[in-house]
Amino acid sequence: MYRSHTCGELKLADAGKVVTLAGWAARIRTMGGMAFIDIRDRYGITQLAFNEGYDAGILEQASQIGREFVIQVTGKVAERESKNPQIPTGDVEVIVTEFKILNPAKTPPFLIENETDGGDDLRMQYRYLDLRREVVRANMVLRHKMAQEVRRYLSDSDFIEVETPVLIKSTPEGARDFVVPSRLNPGQFYALPQSPQTFKQLLMVSGFDRYFQIVKCFRDEDLRADRQPEFTQIDCEMSFVEREDILHVFEGLTRHLFQKVKGIDLPEVPMMSYADAMQFYGCDKPDLRFDMRFADLNDMAKGKGFGVFDNSEAVIGICAPGAASYTRKQLDELTDFVKRPQIGATGLIYCRVEADGTFKSSVDKFFDQNALSGWAAACGANPGDLILVLAGPLNKVRKQMNELRLEMGTRLGLRDPFNYKPLWVIDFPLLEQDEESGRWHAMHHPFTSPLPEDIHLMQSDPGAVRANAYDLVINGVEVGGGSIRIHNRSLQERMFELLGFTPEQARAQFGFLMDAFEYGAPPHGGIAFGFDRLCSLFGGSETIRDYIAFPKNNAGRDVMIDAPSALDQEQLDELSVSVKQR
Ligand code: AMO
Repeated sequence: MYRSHTCGELKLADAGKVVTLAGWAARIRTMGGMAFIDIRDRYGITQLAFNEGYDAGILEQASQIGREFVIQVTGKVAERESKNPQIPTGDVEVIVTEFKILNPAKTPPFLIENETDGGDDLRMQYRYLDLRREVVRANMVLRHKMAQEVRRYLSDSDFIEVETPVLIKSTPEGARDFVVPSRLNPGQFYALPQSPQTFKQLLMVSGFDRYFQIVKCFRDEDLRADRQPEFTQIDCEMSFVEREDILHVFEGLTRHLFQKVKGIDLPEVPMMSYADAMQFYGCDKPDLRFDMRFADLNDMAKGKGFGVFDNSEAVIGICAPGAASYTRKQLDELTDFVKRPQIGATGLIYCRVEADGTFKSSVDKFFDQNALSGWAAACGANPGDLILVLAGPLNKVRKQMNELRLEMGTRLGLRDPFNYKPLWVIDFPLLEQDEESGRWHAMHHPFTSPLPEDIHLMQSDPGAVRANAYDLVINGVEVGGGSIRIHNRSLQERMFELLGFTPEQARAQFGFLMDAFEYGAPPHGGIAFGFDRLCSLFGGSETIRDYIAFPKNNAGRDVMIDAPSALDQEQLDELSVSVKQR
């Protein structure tokens, strides 16, 4: 028997028991005739006491080990003189009578503590050591719990988990494919799924009715804190449903997870159209933890002789609550913020609403108190608040104001990661146009159905067609997205035609799906949640890497195993792949 107890379970009630523990030496303190070692495993930490008077040989052995040695000890549980209320086992220690080194260890390259001295790169290179740290392990435990609850909720709601293949043909979700050469079919390649989209639709044609899968997806795209080249979706599809049925089930799943994993009763999830999200928040995933809705100041701002406003398509203001006290320096910082090339505004106009209700703006020359009070009314600003205004082309100003709004939310401490504000964003445009080529792209994916009342616009005004699509947004993060699908061959063909596919190309790529639509495809729709994003939201972090056991870095590399890597010539020949020398 390696151990009688774990390192996290001994309590005062166990005093007097003889126990055996096994784990890693976390901290070692030797002092004269005594030594203390903290032994750690997945469950916690227990203090071991070595006493010279008791057995000098054991003390001698213990003082020779280093951090992270794997050890096994037997001894008697005793009440501790100086207790540690920070840890569950802090009332007791084990007075060691037998001691064994199970495996020595090199000194680890960084401290295996919650507050570590290891930088990101080093911790990723030794991720297996990083995962020994309690904070990192706790993230994996959270992920496990979430997956359990997802399976429980969906299985209880009659969903069946079905695995779909990983070696497939391109499924367009808007990113590049990762591809795998086929040895048996020289010159041909599989694509790794960007999502199981087409397979889950085929399962609906097969009559599965309710499908789900916690599934790896692969997308070759530029990486950010909330994007990994391989990530996990909670992927779902349902038959004989309308949008409301899907929103109901998946709002239920979201609420179930918050309740079971975090003990939070989530309020009903409000809905907002894409058009409103863009108008009032300048983005399709508004962070509703704070207000600062955009106010259209066009009518009030133009025609007063201020050229910047007069020559702009849009003038938009927001109210930053309580920020009238901002100093000149803070306002300059904000101006620098919006002028950064990534944001690209030409300048920032402000107006303080003073405590006595008067106004002090950076454009007092053009706007009198009466005009400024109009701004304040439009923005909902009260004494003590600060109005911030940007002007320019509509779409640009919306984007810039979105950035400024989020920045102000952060500066004013309004973005508490544990305050959850979910939102359904609905009625997305079906298509978006590439500015350079003029080509239309599916905003969600080409299998998304247009809203029935907009189908007649598909030829005449494609940009005005709304999709029967929806996103779940929590705290400004797109957690999930889905749609009601096209289930009719001719509509699907029209969609491909709009996207610039020739009939031959459409048939070559997606003939299997359109053929299936002719064998009794039920009306269907679905959704996929980004599981890593959901976990990081629950954990209160913005970085999904913290919730993935072995993530890739920002260059898409696994620095621990050193992937991707070159293949030798023999293997390339076998795969009929030739590599350009760089
Ligand atoms: P979509 O492309 O919106 O929809 O993806 C669904 C959700 O997956 C998450 N996600 C990602 N997470 C981490 N890293 C990435 N690179 C990444 N890309 C996407 C997001 C996103 O909301 N087949 C459709 C779903 C459907 O229509 O049912 C799809 O994949 O949280």
